[in-house]
Amino acid sequence: MDGVREMNFDQLFRQISPEEIRDNVFTLVGKVFPVITAGKVDNFNSMTASGGGFGMLFKKPTTWCILQATRYTLELIEKEQTYTMSYFPDEYKEQILFFGSKSGRDSEKMKEVELTSVKTPSGDMSYKEARLIIECRLTEITTPDPNDFCTQEAKDYLKEAYKDPNEYRKYVFGEITNVWVRR
Ligand SMILES: Cc1cc2nc3c(=O)[nH]c(=O)nc-3n(C[C@H](O)[C@H](O)[C@H](O)COP(=O)(O)O)c2cc1C
Repeated sequence: MDGVREMNFDQLFRQISPEEIRDNVFTLVGKVFPVITAGKVDNFNSMTASGGGFGMLFKKPTTWCILQATRYTLELIEKEQTYTMSYFPDEYKEQILFFGSKSGRDSEKMKEVELTSVKTPSGDMSYKEARLIIECRLTEITTPDPNDFCTQEAKDYLKEAYKDPNEYRKYVFGEITNVWVRR
């Protein structure tokens, strides 16, 4: 998109309420992959995600996602207690998948990516090319027990995932604090 890199956050984005998000919820969690970004301007990291959802927790609009325990992004979420979920036009798919190709803990992926980072007014990080940015404040991290699940399919899946403690999936819930869409 022409000129995007030169524009500032206010020129690119306008704030909406969670209720005004127009995307179909199953498209956001099932068809397009959010980029989850945690950390502040001097040290931030992004990963590709899938699954999860949106809903109300303690009467607050909330997102949830399922992150493997080893993710560097999860480490930064726990450290900073805030993060963003960013959604992009299809043309950026390659870059979005790039965030999922290697860990920022032991690679230079954040320097290599061809997206333009931007700081939100509250100091969280996202990208100028995003079309929707959801800022979250960490509410809860839960590690589900395979025995909590009722279908054999889910039990089998989690038993497989839990063979190694590093492979645990954590359910991460975050209260939506701000929503931004491209102008
Ligand atoms: C399409 C796609 C979807 C992904 N979804 C998830 C996910 O929901 N949860 C997860 O923990 N990892 C998921 N990953 C893997 C992470 O993005 C990947 O391991 C990434 O390198 C982690 O980066 P980090 O260690 O820098 O945080 C996905 C990867 C791709 C390509």
